[in-house]
Amino acid sequence: MRYARIFLLVALSVAFAAQAFAAPDESQLDRGHRVYQKWCYPCHGPGADKPGTASLAARGQKPAVLEDRTDLTPAAIKIFVRHGVLYMPTFRKTEISDADLDAIAAYLTRNNKK
Ligand code: HEC
Repeated sequence: MRYARIFLLVALSVAFAAQAFAAPDESQLDRGHRVYQKWCYPCHGPGADKPGTASLAARGQKPAVLEDRTDLTPAAIKIFVRHGVLYMPTFRKTEISDADLDAIAAYLTRNNKK
């Protein structure tokens, strides 16, 4: 009986450890890229058919594609995402968590001069 419990404990710890190691090792930038592709690319990808890109291009913003910018700050990105602008919607935390938003901000500022 005692051994059965110990065995169970060991088996459970091995199972948990295996799960932890099996979890995908996704870096912050990969995560940011993935979340960006899902929520932002449809409007901010390259091309005149993307409304966010078209709007920024019409405003004279160069480059108009967010992924090519080096002047955005994490703070500004987070404000736009949580509050929206023009017809860009606000994104709730149930859609884009704070951790996902941190990842998007890290991704979009990856080429900024440090
Ligand atoms: C439904 C389309 C749409 C979606 C989806 C969208 N945006 Fe936007 N976004 C816009 C529009 C339109 C603007 C305003 C462009 C302008 O000022 O002319 C904008 C502006 C911005 C700006 C401000 C850029 C600047 O220089 O003023 C940021 C930053 C931004 N979006 C980030 C994001 C991020 C990050 C996501 C994904 C979480 C996202 N947007 C999703 C349409 C969208």
